[in-house]
Amino acid sequence: MELAYVAFGSNVGDRQAHIQGALDSLAATPGIKVLRISEILETEFEGEGPEQGPFLNGVVELSTSLTPMALLCVLQALEQVAGRASPHPVNHPRELDLDIILFGSRTIDCRDLIVPHPRYYERTFVREPLLQLGVDLDPYKPKPSPVVIDSVEMLTQKTSEWLAGDCLVGLVPTMGSLHEGHKSLMLKAREQCDRVVATVFVNPLQFGPNEDFSAYPRDLTADTEVCRSAGVDVLFAPPVGQMFGEEFCSNIAVGPEAVGMEGGVRDGHFEGVATVVARLFAMARPHRAYFGEKDAQQVAVVRRMAKDLGFPVRIEPCAIVREEDGLALSSRNVYLGKEDRAASTVLFRALRSAREQFRRGTRDRDKLLERVRAVLATEARCDVDYVELRREGDLAELPPGDVVGGRLLVAAKFVDGERLVRLLDNLSLTGEDELL
Ligand code: PAJ
Repeated sequence: MELAYVAFGSNVGDRQAHIQGALDSLAATPGIKVLRISEILETEFEGEGPEQGPFLNGVVELSTSLTPMALLCVLQALEQVAGRASPHPVNHPRELDLDIILFGSRTIDCRDLIVPHPRYYERTFVREPLLQLGVDLDPYKPKPSPVVIDSVEMLTQKTSEWLAGDCLVGLVPTMGSLHEGHKSLMLKAREQCDRVVATVFVNPLQFGPNEDFSAYPRDLTADTEVCRSAGVDVLFAPPVGQMFGEEFCSNIAVGPEAVGMEGGVRDGHFEGVATVVARLFAMARPHRAYFGEKDAQQVAVVRRMAKDLGFPVRIEPCAIVREEDGLALSSRNVYLGKEDRAASTVLFRALRSAREQFRRGTRDRDKLLERVRAVLATEARCDVDYVELRREGDLAELPPGDVVGGRLLVAAKFVDGERLVRLLDNLSLTGEDELL
């Protein structure tokens, strides 16, 4: 037998009768013994939702031989007997609400049940009755979210628990220095998945010897705050030694998606990306993984790697988030000098101008590329690395002649600020209009 605490509440119909009916049924259920019932409080509705009447609330202490899931089923059946619709719209008035708050000293994290109840501590109408029953809440204080984890073992343990609990798991890999672009990935994952892991790891494998690995901006406190505001459950931020032990030497070879463009300028970059992402997939075992179209070639490389190696994950590309003036958000934008920052809008202007031309009927690949180059050339501070028009999805090269669509991609250096900053941007010829 284990002790369990169940909160009850009602704000529709004969509230007292709904509660009494449920308490009587609980007492009559085999495997459940009702030990004590707190005082019943009347409380005004708190939180978002339609206008509604006050609640009667309280907590019942049970001793039970049922499993937590079996107890949950009993409680859900009682809610329905009281007339509550299933599924019930969030925060709407309800005949009866029964929530498992504590179950022995267990912590449970499955799709349909989290124990201790994640929001009980902030709800006076649950906390007060528990205190009245003499429950010591100290051991059951909820952990601040996201939970920050730095060891592979703890991450694997957490995701194993979620998978066993039937949760749909979403993964958002990042290198930190998080901005609204990263946050948009997290929000999409939050919307689509039961649990979200974000990772912050500046991956040494994907930086070349002359690149900015050691100077890459790092700020875990600020990153944790962004994750919190996006509703991320776990933030995995391991030191290098956790991700790649001393003997680590495996490396994933990448295919045609990695040839040219970023792959042409950054030797070994995509091998490093594919290797770290594969390692993250193996540890977190996500159902879905979220990547920004800002790095369109990276999306193509990762999609190929996941397919070839058989990771059961769906790659979710996410639209580029931009500043109001069109510059794609990037962790490196902070290094742009004032004048370079003003000049950097030329990338998006050039892409949009070519898309405009496409919409007006120009179909010739080289004419569209020429338009991008012509606009870029109007900005002397912009040192172009490449301009390409590639097939959507796998970004395969398109032959000369007419195109029916495709993605324009550009990379350029801005050199006059404090340091050299390389910026990327891209735009689909047939895509929807983006923010601006
Ligand atoms: P990072 O540059 O931190 O980017 C993490 C993710 O955020 C990538 O999928 C990237 O495309 C996306 N992102 C960045 N800026 C964005 C913007 N303005 N709009 C939408 N999405 C944006 O990309 C990496 O890290 C690494 O290569 C990584 C995948 C984590 C592997 O180390």
